[in-house]
Amino acid sequence: MNIPLHISQIHESRFNQKPLIVRSPGRINLIGEHTDYNNGFVLPAATDKAIYITLSASTDATCHWFAADFSDEFTTTLDVLQPSPKNWPNYLLGIVEQFQKMGHSIPAFNCVVSGDVPAGGGMSSSAALECATGWGLAHLFNIPLDKLTLTRMAQRSENEFVGLQCGIMDMFASAFGKHNEVIRLDCRSLDYEYFPLDLADYQIVLFDTGVKHSLASSEYNTRRQECEAGVALLQTLESDIHSLRDVSEEMLLTHQRKFDPLIFVRCLYVVQENERLLAACEDLKRGDLETFGQRMYGSHNGLRDMYEVSCKELDYLVSFTTTEKSVLGARMMGGGFGGCTINIIKADAVDDLFERIQKAYKIAMGLDLKMYKVSIEDGTSILSV
Ligand code: GLA
Repeated sequence: MNIPLHISQIHESRFNQKPLIVRSPGRINLIGEHTDYNNGFVLPAATDKAIYITLSASTDATCHWFAADFSDEFTTTLDVLQPSPKNWPNYLLGIVEQFQKMGHSIPAFNCVVSGDVPAGGGMSSSAALECATGWGLAHLFNIPLDKLTLTRMAQRSENEFVGLQCGIMDMFASAFGKHNEVIRLDCRSLDYEYFPLDLADYQIVLFDTGVKHSLASSEYNTRRQECEAGVALLQTLESDIHSLRDVSEEMLLTHQRKFDPLIFVRCLYVVQENERLLAACEDLKRGDLETFGQRMYGSHNGLRDMYEVSCKELDYLVSFTTTEKSVLGARMMGGGFGGCTINIIKADAVDDLFERIQKAYKIAMGLDLKMYKVSIEDGTSILSV
């Protein structure tokens, strides 16, 4: 189905107006997990799976919003913004609130939302929706906005309105994505560099566990606190420590005995993951995909054993691939406790591997496995006016 065409037709028939159409993609992250909120590095990219929103100014001072994928309507005014139990409108309301905080009052608007980013798969459909909404409203109401401000708004909206203390990776990847390039983002300075991802005859494939364990968001916030506790201790021992980005493995080991063992191992994971990512970028520059793949396994092991954000379903899928010759690397992707694994697999072996891993996963976990082949595409854009 042509999603943008489909929702613009819905928009025209519901509101009798020709809309602005915005696309903002879901993201993958090749390596560098739980590093963004520690001011570290990440290596995400925008994908062909995206959220689309149609927008036009309302004619009756009330917002009429429609989520086409679950036929759900939402109406509101924009004077007093309150989180909705429906959940999906909160991603739009949070962005409106950010515009208001920046001194821009947003007139009532109509919209239709749809997309093919798998929900709960850890590809950040929420960041995509926030970026699409912010970019679209800025264009619709002639508000000057650059993409860096857009990503900061989207992150604050998620932190303040939705209530998730996420980092900036997801929004940044959605907004700044570029066809066939991954983004090495320094989350401290927000400097970024594009790297061409030449996979030759390999393909990026996500395996979706089909689970999202309920402790995902509480454990996410706990991990943040554990990292902050580590930084607070190091600040009493060393000068110029603002985040785990300023910490080396050597420094951690020097002070190991002063640490609570759990806090120590969390911090060690983050410091090692940053190092791993920088080394992985060197692999990419050399075209050494094999070593890059091994670092993906290293990242998974750290997330499983040290940071403890994996789960048995993710571990099963990663471990299955370790004896497959066609797989260069695999690891859990995103916050953890469910969602997808990301894999680099020889393109002509993908379907055969999927058939076998799907059967094995069903027997081992009693769950249906889904697969998404993803390509790397451009970030947030206006499709037509
Ligand atoms: C979630 C968050 C991101 C990032 C990842 C883990 O996707 O939204 O900001 O912290 O988890 O790398």
